[in-house]
Amino acid sequence: NSIQDTLIIGKKVIYLPTCHSTNDIAAEIVHAGLFDEGTIVITDNQVKGRGQRGTEWVADPGQNLTFSVILTPGFLPVGDQFLLSQTVALGIRAYAALYVNNAKVKWPNDVHVNGKKVSGVLIENSIQGSRIASSIIGIGANINQAAFANSYATSIGRETGRQFVLSEEFHKLLRCLDHSYADLKSRTLNDRIRKDYLTNLFGYNHAVRFKYQDRVLEGTVSHVTLQGKLVLKLLSESGMLEVGLKEIEWLK
Ligand code: BTN
Repeated sequence: NSIQDTLIIGKKVIYLPTCHSTNDIAAEIVHAGLFDEGTIVITDNQVKGRGQRGTEWVADPGQNLTFSVILTPGFLPVGDQFLLSQTVALGIRAYAALYVNNAKVKWPNDVHVNGKKVSGVLIENSIQGSRIASSIIGIGANINQAAFANSYATSIGRETGRQFVLSEEFHKLLRCLDHSYADLKSRTLNDRIRKDYLTNLFGYNHAVRFKYQDRVLEGTVSHVTLQGKLVLKLLSESGMLEVGLKEIEWLK
């Protein structure tokens, strides 16, 4: 099983009707050592999906896209790890933008539509020396799911009132990711990737509310550091705040 019209991503697709976590299966493949870059593990029913910050990722079976891509971005120095994250977020955002005109990246790499999350990414890199030897890119993209347990999640289908054929959407999403990854691989477009990321980022040029050290603050995104920290310009008190993944919580 493979996708024909991409350069790397999806050249080999492994389908499992059900599994614990596609990221874990992908890690086993990486450990075994024999795989082609761009190999994908996809499932219809992930029963122990993992999210960022040790959270759980839950999706209705057969309604969404739940998969992991194995990449070998050996050309990327460890210091540029966040570029990979930005590249993936931009690829998923480009896919969502096929259907809606307000798809946003929410730092670090969620994709939101109409202020609600349609996709999450869990990247697990393995570092060798100063390079990224392999990277497992786990993607959960909500496509047809109609109802969600939490009020800040949604699906592309729900936001557009459409019902999609999952295999077609899988193909389209892979093309968008492949395109983004080709930009990263070119090594000449890093500044453009960083700029595109920023201009498509939730909170860039408009005020957002968040919780930091038990305080509710308001601010706009100023920029993202090379290491992937978010720098916010505070509204309430003048000054800048640099935060890492576990340090802030977005508020409505
Ligand atoms: C997040 O937003 O917290 C990240 C969610 C990542 C979920 C995907 S689904 C496919 C892959 N396998 C996992 O166990 N997690 C990722």
